[in-house]
Amino acid sequence: MVEFLLPKNSRLTEGKTFKAEKNAKNIRRFEVYRWDPDKGENPRVDAYEIDMDDCGPMVLDAILKIKNEIDSTLTFRRSCREGVCGSCAMNINGKNTLACTKAISDFSETVKIFPLPHMDVIKDLVPDMTNFFAQYASIKPWIETQTPPPADTERLQSKEERAELDGLYECVLCACCSTSCPSYWWNSDRYLGPAILLQAYRWLADSRDETTGERLDELEDPFKLYRCHTIMNCTDTCPKGLNPAKAIAEIKKQLVQRHEG
Ligand code: SF4
Ligand code: SF4
Ligand code: FES
Repeated sequence: MVEFLLPKNSRLTEGKTFKAEKNAKNIRRFEVYRWDPDKGENPRVDAYEIDMDDCGPMVLDAILKIKNEIDSTLTFRRSCREGVCGSCAMNINGKNTLACTKAISDFSETVKIFPLPHMDVIKDLVPDMTNFFAQYASIKPWIETQTPPPADTERLQSKEERAELDGLYECVLCACCSTSCPSYWWNSDRYLGPAILLQAYRWLADSRDETTGERLDELEDPFKLYRCHTIMNCTDTCPKGLNPAKAIAEIKKQLVQRHEG
């Protein structure tokens, strides 16, 4: 059998364990990926025992408690604490999700926290999102028009036209879906991935946008779009309950209809 091993300097080493205080009764163990580029050491997994009687209910609450009370060197992103900024995305017990909306009670034992997979790590739980956001910019995430605006009003939508954006506008660009997609793992330099394709469809579906043809031209590419093989990891993992695989299928449908038309 073929055996694949990580490069030597990427292999995990044993980290430190931070024990709970002696009088703690309701202890939960959190194992957290740690890597500091300035130290020249391999990544390690540190373990933190937390008294759940003195901790909020979400995984982000535990991470903040570690940072504030146990180990201030732990590095991660977060902002809103309510699932709308997308910055606290990480891999928790094997699934990409938002730490602020993931309840600790969803897990019965140790909670294992790693950065989003298949991204370069900047430090600890912080992945490098440079390529992801460059890809986002490439799909021109704004309304493009060719006609002059109406004289006395905004460009309006009917209720039905607005409803076409439901299931799309809620995306918080957390990248949980893209970093769970095997096609994106292997081809993230050229495949746009589910998050960016859902966003691309969000502008195709907007009745006010007048550059549908140009947008489809840009997407009609064997790598940008057609690396999606409908594996569905993206839809399975989206913490906002969205369906990027369906959005990708809608783009493909529009391309087929254009050729038939
Ligand atoms: S459905 Fe497509 S985008 Fe979603 S995980 Fe599968 S290959 Fe990736
Ligand atoms: S579709 Fe879902 S998982 Fe993907 S970036 Fe948007 S909110 Fe995150
Ligand atoms: S902190 Fe904003 S989504 Fe989690």
